[in-house]
Amino acid sequence: MSGAAQGKAEKQMGKMKAELGGVVVLDFGGQYTQLIARRVREQQVFSAILPCTTSLDEIRKLQPAGIILSGGPSSVYDRDAPKCDPGVLAMGIPVLGICYGMQWIAKNLGGRVEPAERREYGPAKLLVEKENSQLFHKFPDSLKIWNSHGDHVHELPAGFHATGKTSNAIASAEDQERKIYAVQFHPEVKHTERGTEILRNFLFAVCKAEPKWSGAAFIEEAVTAIKAKVGTHHAICGLSGGVDSTVAAVLVHRAMGGRLTNIFVNTGLLRKNEFEHTLEMYRERLGLHVIGVDAKDRFLEKLKGVSDPEKKRKIIGNEFIHVFAGEAEKLQKEMGGDIRFLVQGTLYPDVIESVSVKGPSATIKTHHNVGGLPEKMPFGLIEPLRDLFKDEVRSIGKDLGLPQEILVKHPFPGPGLAVRLLGDINSADLGTLREADAIVVEEIRRAGWYEKVWQAFAVLLPVRSVGVMGDGRTYGLTVAVRVVQSEDAMTADWVRLPGEVLERMSTRIVNEVPGVTRVVYDISSKPPSTIEWE
Ligand code: XMP
Repeated sequence: MSGAAQGKAEKQMGKMKAELGGVVVLDFGGQYTQLIARRVREQQVFSAILPCTTSLDEIRKLQPAGIILSGGPSSVYDRDAPKCDPGVLAMGIPVLGICYGMQWIAKNLGGRVEPAERREYGPAKLLVEKENSQLFHKFPDSLKIWNSHGDHVHELPAGFHATGKTSNAIASAEDQERKIYAVQFHPEVKHTERGTEILRNFLFAVCKAEPKWSGAAFIEEAVTAIKAKVGTHHAICGLSGGVDSTVAAVLVHRAMGGRLTNIFVNTGLLRKNEFEHTLEMYRERLGLHVIGVDAKDRFLEKLKGVSDPEKKRKIIGNEFIHVFAGEAEKLQKEMGGDIRFLVQGTLYPDVIESVSVKGPSATIKTHHNVGGLPEKMPFGLIEPLRDLFKDEVRSIGKDLGLPQEILVKHPFPGPGLAVRLLGDINSADLGTLREADAIVVEEIRRAGWYEKVWQAFAVLLPVRSVGVMGDGRTYGLTVAVRVVQSEDAMTADWVRLPGEVLERMSTRIVNEVPGVTRVVYDISSKPPSTIEWE
């Protein structure tokens, strides 16, 4: 681990009370590691993901009731196969190894792991040997499970007995004496029947974990911790209009009231009426103290003639920092230098990415968040959401009384409409895109689909085509409509909207938005396409 990553891992150790006594998930780089942690939290048990290389002392600081070893893409026989300190199996804390985790346990305790004759991927049938199993207590004789592995355990270490088999491998085992449990398949994946019950049996029957991780407990402890951290000083926060920064601001506002000043910048790249509408919601409905900064001319000026998507992102990110820093400086003078803290809506997945064994996943686009501020700003950081997953943030937002409209709002990229207006940015085309986008969203809402989809928006293409309107020939622009379903934006599928909904969108856009003659529907999935067009 790099020094910085180690520092972050250590920072994570300053845990709150509700976070002690949960589960530590040691990450071997598996694609489902975050899912394991989320499934544990769904049972009101806190979970923390740590790199598999974390020391036993650091693990102990969390006073875990149990440890889960994740899956991973390696073979235990690879030269650089990730490893834990074998001491995790002798701490007296119950351990559950999943997939690679099972293989690592078997290899370490003297079992035999071998490459399977054929890779098992996808659904399979598990024959359950439940007589002497704690994980499968009172289960049926067989289960549908989800597999994803090449190697498998051929011979169990002494002390273990098999509790399940598939047609070609030992699929699960237990050593109840040492409280070490292992499954070759993925109980955290929805396709595994009774997966939740398997995890619950581990958490509650084996680990005796207490289900005490709740939104209310989190809010109470977070508010107390923020109060202690800020004392009588002031803080600032950049709002984006999205759920994360809003929840962070409301939480901090609870702790320090009027000593928190928020800054909301109009980049000119927001959706129709979004700036005015959101500003009003912040002030009137949430009671936040917000400075609204109209910087749209600055952004447009800087973006003039720029068509490269990555350049657009960089320019917008830099400009945002300038605007924000300028406002912060003004405010700092007014407060006599008493602003000591900056609030950010960093979430747990961002924190884990930087500490995981495999390092951050490959960058496909620089997700240069507007609102992402340079570390050299002279403020201490308050990141009240850095231990939370997105769905937990929504649920805490609900507990904090945020309006539904903000809780269900679709994600919106920091660079905003700039990456949905292909090619050069100019205010006329931005106006066209804004109108078309508003129609897409209005029609999705009207049809009752808004809360069922991940994102729905319009993209303006610099492609002209011929049309007819009345007696005249037109030669106008093209709007692409993009509506996707997703769980975490890593993968996405296009939504099969009813024809009538698409028809209404198309008719309205061509009739109501001057300059557009054609509407197309994007039927590409991610991968290989991305959600945004740029
Ligand atoms: P892609 O297009 O990469 O998008 O499939 C995945 C998710 O990320 C959002 N997105 C961004 N968010 N800054 C952001 O804050 C960006 O530059 C950016 N680019 C894409 C996108 O809306 C989707 O939810």
